[in-house]
Amino acid sequence: MPEPTQPAIHPVIIIGGGLAGLSLALHLADNNIHTAILSKAELDDGSTRYAQGGIAAVVSENDSYQSHIDDTISAGGGLCDPAVVEFVVKNAPAAIEWLMARGVSFSQDAAKNKLHLTREGGHSQRRVIHAADATGKEVEVTLEQMVRRHPFIKLYENHIAIDLITANRTCNGVYAFDRLHKQTRTLACQQLVLATGGASKMYLYTSNPDTSTGDGIAMAWRAGCRVANMEFVQFHPTCLYHPQAKSFLISEAVRGEGGKLIHGDGKRFMDKYDRRAELAPRDIVARAIDLEMKIHGLDNVYLDISHKSGKFLAMHFPTILKKCRALGLDMASQPLPVVPAAHYTCGGVLTDLYGQTELTGLYAIGETACTGLHGANRLASNSLLECLVFAKSCAGKIAANMHSCVDKNRLPNWDESQVTDADERIVVAHNWDELRRCMWDYVGIVRTDKRLWRAGRRIALLQEEIAEFYGNFKISNDLIELRNLAQVCELTVRSALTRKESRGLH
Ligand code: FAD
Ligand code: SIN
Repeated sequence: MPEPTQPAIHPVIIIGGGLAGLSLALHLADNNIHTAILSKAELDDGSTRYAQGGIAAVVSENDSYQSHIDDTISAGGGLCDPAVVEFVVKNAPAAIEWLMARGVSFSQDAAKNKLHLTREGGHSQRRVIHAADATGKEVEVTLEQMVRRHPFIKLYENHIAIDLITANRTCNGVYAFDRLHKQTRTLACQQLVLATGGASKMYLYTSNPDTSTGDGIAMAWRAGCRVANMEFVQFHPTCLYHPQAKSFLISEAVRGEGGKLIHGDGKRFMDKYDRRAELAPRDIVARAIDLEMKIHGLDNVYLDISHKSGKFLAMHFPTILKKCRALGLDMASQPLPVVPAAHYTCGGVLTDLYGQTELTGLYAIGETACTGLHGANRLASNSLLECLVFAKSCAGKIAANMHSCVDKNRLPNWDESQVTDADERIVVAHNWDELRRCMWDYVGIVRTDKRLWRAGRRIALLQEEIAEFYGNFKISNDLIELRNLAQVCELTVRSALTRKESRGLH
């Protein structure tokens, strides 16, 4: 075991450069607190920049906090924490103002000289603030520019966190693998925040980017934190079904603006399942599509908004229109082939109203956390909102806790003395595929105990192989992610087997 040496020390380390991580760093900088942000690749490599629909907030005089609260709790299948829902909903307008004060530009309703509000499933009102159909990009790019310029914020891009360094249930830092220089660094801090996004890469088909491998959830679990609600994996009902589309999302706002779900013969089917039809909450719509595809032996259903003018579509959905056209599909004149795909991790690391976990000095915010907001199914556009509200409350708590922190200047170094170069890297790639296919086949939209047990056995076997690899060979990005992915798959199956009822997304 090598002697401990002086690690790089930062007051606060934030793992993740999505909306949760960036907004937290900016709030802390406002409090004169220095931070370091880690991201696996470039800062904008997470889900945030792909977000389309928008951010839910009560800003219209026709709307009310109570209505947003009721819609969130109803979508959440009765498992939301009402105090958390109220906290988030009431802080939503301020979160939108904070973004606009930083230069984020949202779509306007020119006739009313106000923000344009779109609608999504489960919302009884138009309350989704958006930047056309590229809300995430607008938010991420604007905040990223500020973060890159800020003298208090140091960036570690292309650094993947491997594991937290803890002692006596206190987090003291993190080991991170520098992907460009292929070396592992020891980073010490007084307080550390997991803002690592979700785990939808557990599934073969997902709307998420490659970074969503549940690393924060897996690291927190290994460090001794409780993890909850992992059985509630949200499948987005409408991802483009096209061999080159990589499950490209067709925003729920398309249905909000009048898009209808149909079969190849033009017949609608959603009114059979819910009085809200296409605008029912996501769990209901995804399940209905899954059932229709099974009953009729179909590869996909269709989403039709061709009754709207090309001008309307170009104004509201320029990104989707362009992407579809590039694939030879014109949504202005034909229905789009769509299927459900894994989209959002409702569960995660258990936290309180300030993002605090059960370990001293460790916080979790954004999609990686389980705050109690989403319950058994997240209401559309409540996720970016959750990132913003918890980044602010977490920043306040970190600032308040700063004085009681002690310096961590001696940490055990990463020890590679016992491992060699991997002999068969292809095994890692095969395990990746096997794991994600297994989750898709056995832990999908509709589940049975028998299938869950099958998945559990396969995952346990894969975990044994991965542990052997991890213990004997030098680490790589793929191996770190695979180990975490297997961990979150195990947690998902265990949580699913524990819940003996059908509820929300389970
Ligand atoms: P992310 O934005 O995913 O960022 C995670 C960051 O953590 C990344 O920088 C990543 O590199 C880093 N990271 C992860 N693991 C490690 C590690 N081990 N080491 C170092 N860094 C690490 N929600 C809405 O509310 N409205 C929408 O309209 C909407 N549309 C969506 C559309 C799409 C296509 C997708 C995929 C999601 C959408 N969502 C939407 C969900 C929402 O975008 C995400 O839940 C949210 O952006 C998550 O933000 P985050 O900051 O928690 O994580
Ligand atoms: C979408 O635009 O359909 C995604 C919205 C969300 O995930 O909240």
